[in-house]
This record gives sequence, structure tokens and C-alpha cells, in this order.
Amino acid sequence: PANAHFAQTLISWYGRHKRSLPWRDTTNPYYIWLSEVVLQQTRVAQGQPYYERFVAAYPTVQDLAAAPQDEVLRLWQGLGYYSRARNMHHTAQLVAEKYRGQFPDKYEELIKLKGVGSYTAAAIAAFAFKEKVAVLDGNVFRVLARVFGISDDIAVPASRKIFQKLADELVPADEPDTYNQAIMEFGAIQCTPLMPDCLFCPLQQSCFAFNHGMVQELPVKSKA
Ligand code: ADE
Repeated sequence: PANAHFAQTLISWYGRHKRSLPWRDTTNPYYIWLSEVVLQQTRVAQGQPYYERFVAAYPTVQDLAAAPQDEVLRLWQGLGYYSRARNMHHTAQLVAEKYRGQFPDKYEELIKLKGVGSYTAAAIAAFAFKEKVAVLDGNVFRVLARVFGISDDIAVPASRKIFQKLADELVPADEPDTYNQAIMEFGAIQCTPLMPDCLFCPLQQSCFAFNHGMVQELPVKSKA
């Protein structure tokens, strides 16, 4: 079936091209959560040293929960959006106290945590707990819009439902973790915004945008 082929092509591409990143070698939900909070609105090259410093300073969620807030904010210095750090600290304390140090293992529970939106909840659920849920970030919107020829404006909230439905259908039940990493990485490295590497793309033949000369037109995004 077409969906299985799409997923398998990306997973195979990922095996050949993926960057080695520390949060990919773990299924510990605390580390995955930490990485996704640090990486929100932040490039990997900028965020990775922060991630590594946080893991070193606070190896467990209890360690982070017990840290003084000013120390956490000091470690965060330079990343910006300090509400992220305050929400992170608050959530660490909630997980340490109310959840006895165990992150919830379902998307529907994760999304209730402060500072955890649909993207981060899906990332933790898929990467740590292999839940069959699609992780949707800018990279994924772009890949789906191009390959499947979706011209709904990604800046309009209602479009999200259309992308989410398709994205959820594409997640293979046996490896939602690898597949989600794969499509995000594919968008970050191969199907890039300005100069995608269409000549050496394993999805070239089935890509709507490539076949219709619309690679530069998709995804449609009305405002910055
Ligand atoms: N940016 C945000 N989350 C990421 C992840 N899991 N891998 C690579 N880059 C990311």
C-alpha cells in the first residue's frame, strides 16, 4: 500500500542519512521531553549543548525538580523565551511529586502538562512510548504538503486538522518512533525550504510537488 511505502522509504532514507543526536539514543521520556523543550524555536546546533548541560546537571526529573529556579534559569541563559524554562521547572516538580517521577505514557495525559503542546506531547508519546501518533512540526508540514500536494495554508489553524489526519494515517504501527524521527529529519536535511535535494530524493517519482513543478509553491504559508 502507498502509506506503507511512504513510511518505509523514509525509514530507509533515515538509516542512511540521520545525524547522530544524543536524545535519539534514549527512550527515557524525561530526556526526550527535555530535548524537545530545549529545541522548541531553537536550532539543533544551538540547543544541543544546552541539552547536554541540563542532562549532566540534572540526570533525573527529581534532580531538576529539586533545583533552585535561579540555577535552572542560569543554565537556560542564552536560549531565550524564559517562560519555557519556568514551565519546564514547574512540570518537573509536578512529575516528581504528583506522578512519582514517572512521566505519563499517553498523548492525552502528556498534553495536560504545562509547556507541553501537541507537538511535544506527540514527540514524547511516539519516541518514548511508541504510541501511534504523528509528530507535526514545520518540517513535517513541508514534506506532507509537497509529497501529497496539500495546498491548505499551514498558517491557518483549521488546516492543521487536515494535516494531522493524513499524518496519523501514515504512521506505521510497528515503528512510530523511528518513522516520526525519519520524517522530521527528512524535512530538516533533504526536503528543505529553499533548495530541496529533489534530484537525489527517494520520493521524487511519487512527489506531487516535484511532478507538478510546485516545489517552491508548497507548503502554502500566509504569514510569518
Ligand atoms: N528538533 C526538535 N526536535 C528534534 C528532534 N527530535 N530531532 C532533531 N531535531 C529536532
